[in-house]
Amino acid sequence: MMMHSYFTQETGFYGKITPEKLIRKYGSPLYVYNESILRQRCKEVLGLITYPNFKVNYSIKANSNLELLKIVRAEGCHADAMSPGEIYVLLKAGFSPDEIFYIGNNVSKDEMQFAIGRGILVSVDSLAQLRQLGEINPGGPVAVRFNPGIGAGHHEKVVTAGKNTKFGINMDYIDEVKALLRKYNLQLVGINQHIGSLFMEGKPYLEGVKSILSIARQFENLDFVDLGGGFGIPYRKQGGEKRLNLKALGQELTGVLENWVKDYGKEIAFKVEPGRYLAAECGVLLGSVFAVKQNYGTKYVGTDLGFNVLARPVIYDSYHEIEVYRHGSLVKGHSNEAVTIVGNICESGDIIAKDRVLPSIEEGDILGIMDAGAYGFAMSSNYNNRLRPAEVLIGKDGTDRLIRKRDTLEDLMKGFEI
Ligand code: LLP
Repeated sequence: MMMHSYFTQETGFYGKITPEKLIRKYGSPLYVYNESILRQRCKEVLGLITYPNFKVNYSIKANSNLELLKIVRAEGCHADAMSPGEIYVLLKAGFSPDEIFYIGNNVSKDEMQFAIGRGILVSVDSLAQLRQLGEINPGGPVAVRFNPGIGAGHHEKVVTAGKNTKFGINMDYIDEVKALLRKYNLQLVGINQHIGSLFMEGKPYLEGVKSILSIARQFENLDFVDLGGGFGIPYRKQGGEKRLNLKALGQELTGVLENWVKDYGKEIAFKVEPGRYLAAECGVLLGSVFAVKQNYGTKYVGTDLGFNVLARPVIYDSYHEIEVYRHGSLVKGHSNEAVTIVGNICESGDIIAKDRVLPSIEEGDILGIMDAGAYGFAMSSNYNNRLRPAEVLIGKDGTDRLIRKRDTLEDLMKGFEI
């Protein structure tokens, strides 16, 4: 017998309110976040290594809700940004320029200047962009993103290092990097990497770390090395999937870093850049079942959870566990029938879960899509002119609070007042 655990029940996810009441109060679909879980995940990563000069940069592409950013900052995290928009929001959330690291990829000089003008350090990831940065900010500080030749990730689209990716400067170009640094008198303060998104074993990460450290060894007087993010979360909890063993990874990492520092002769800072690990599990996406039908042998459960709301299953075939709620409570057990859960978008590919064995679902039920806090709302859109959902936070005391309003029809007219 497979053991079923129900994440929201175990964690008291909804605090003092139920999914039904949340939907009644704020509408459907709805992103719901749990503050305690977010704080807990921050603490886990902040405690990853015992080496003292350690920073956790939250990668806000996973979820940039202003209120969540404030919580992450209050826990002691800094942040990385991938665009001027992310920088803008981070500053609004209270992060200071020295707490933000701009990791550019194919950006204009104007974008570089946007960061530099605000006192934010820029990382470049090609020789061309290093030269361009030298042209606009000679004598200034810079970081360089290297591709250590090792990649990892849950899908080929999110492996961001190794031989088949656009990211980072290949290790073979270290001499060219040095020449450009000299030419523009740039000060290389740090180097960074990101091998990819979602690993569940520490091995590829540690290999990537060793590789970036051997690159770092070839540069004098660095202030930091940023080891990247990618820490995975178990998306198949009901199936018993184990968590990434952060403790074991942290211990090994500490050993590797301490040895390296001794050899390098300077207690530089080490940074990591998790997005998913901090945000995924604190978020559940709620939606409503409007129609159940049979189409040529397949039972379709029709909901308002289209890929405009959660794109991951359609883009990466991602698996998200689903809980069913009826009359104010969680429906437990599994029937023998497999259903296909779909949204309300005009494409046949609009499928959130295919052939999923769940309790028999009825019209009027509410579905909870687990682990939707990372790359959920962040990748939502107005496709089909649908309104992006509201976001609600369940606070430490169990009370609910609106932290972003649902789009309105008027929002769809934004930009046409020309
Ligand atoms: N640092 C850099 C430079 C990155 O490009 C990324 C993610 C991160 C950090 C954070 O990675 P994380 O810790 O979240 O794995 N939309 C995809 C994931 C794309 C990740 C892209 N880069 C998904 O839904 O799975």
